Amino acid sequence: MSSRIRVCLVGAGRAGKVHANSLVNHVPAASVVGIVDPDPEALRSTGDQFGIDSRFDSLEAALDNIEFEAVVITTPTFTHHPIALLAADAGKHILLEKPMALTLAECDHIMLAAERSGVLLQMGFMRRSDPEFVAAARRIQAGEIGQPMMIKSLSHGPGLPPPWARDIRTSNGMLAEVNSHDWDCTRWLMSSNPERVYAEIANFKGNAHGIETPGFYDNVLVNLRFENGGLGSISGICPCEYGYDARVEIVGERGIMQIGEAQGQAVVVCTDRDHGLVTPIYRTWAERFAWGYIREMEHFVHCIQTDTAPSVGGTDGRWAVAGVLAGTKSFLEERPVYVSEVLSDTSGASQ
Ligand SMILES: NC(=O)c1ccc[n+]([C@@H]2O[C@H](COP(=O)([O-])OP(=O)(O)OC[C@H]3O[C@@H](n4cnc5c(N)ncnc54)[C@H](O)[C@@H]3O)[C@@H](O)[C@H]2O)c1
Repeated sequence: MSSRIRVCLVGAGRAGKVHANSLVNHVPAASVVGIVDPDPEALRSTGDQFGIDSRFDSLEAALDNIEFEAVVITTPTFTHHPIALLAADAGKHILLEKPMALTLAECDHIMLAAERSGVLLQMGFMRRSDPEFVAAARRIQAGEIGQPMMIKSLSHGPGLPPPWARDIRTSNGMLAEVNSHDWDCTRWLMSSNPERVYAEIANFKGNAHGIETPGFYDNVLVNLRFENGGLGSISGICPCEYGYDARVEIVGERGIMQIGEAQGQAVVVCTDRDHGLVTPIYRTWAERFAWGYIREMEHFVHCIQTDTAPSVGGTDGRWAVAGVLAGTKSFLEERPVYVSEVLSDTSGASQ
């Protein structure tokens, strides 16, 4: 039995808490030996909640003071590139939250740095570890519905995202922040890369929420064509008032498959006959994908212990970023965009 993998958690916000929970409560093969966040309140809150005593305001300080094998990076998107480079150069295995980075050049730097240092790079696409998505992918690959022809993937998220995530300049907007998962899972389940995209956006509720961030949108709909000729759509809404909703439908030459449902738990309540049966919806992404987050962490730790490549890595993260950039170019220029247009543009590293 390999020894426990020591992990430093970089970023103590919303996603940081979810990964701290997986590591502390569900993955005994790992231990969290430190936590990093420049925000003292986030450090205190997450550190106290999960009993993590070694706290630092930068990854540099953690590297100077504690020993660990791996980092889990759950910081705002615009910081992924410098933090992942620092971790890779220090020889630390990396679980990097989506979106991988802001630009394709940044993605390339991160992959190169990981390869140069011989460290593993896993992307935080937890749907790849979610039991329902995994079962569906296996059944599609086994040919149950025949050759997939069309896929529709939606992600609707409740609550206002943090200010950096609303801003297209620091996050690449909702197509990245919410729909990165759809970019990844449509490519995964169709077994084909996106070739051409056409995106429309709308802003229904920004004013009511007092959001003046330039470029903010809260609804997006993308039409997709894949390299293998398949078709698809991705939709995003955030904030979504009714809860968290992530569902996929795939139509194959022989059948149809649906993944996920709006109903959150198999608990139905009736308190009076006027309101009828009440069934809950998922409240948050952390609740819907609770097992996906745990399984992806188990996978990361197992890959480190066995020195095997993670099932979802830098190339997958880069394709999702390419989709986001093509979709964004499409709605900004009000035209369909070939993904090759953004793949050929590898300028624009933010650091
Ligand atoms: N996989 C998922 O389902 C999922 C869900 C939510 C968020 N995310 C991703 O996780 C990342 C963080 O999102 P969030 O919602 O937790 O954001 P957040 O704003 O709630 O938390 C980010 C934290 O990172 C800290 N931070 C900023 N710069 C830092 C630095 N240089 N070093 C260390 N910490 C730093 C901030 O102070 C903050 O506490 C994003 O990439 C986001 O897209 C993924």
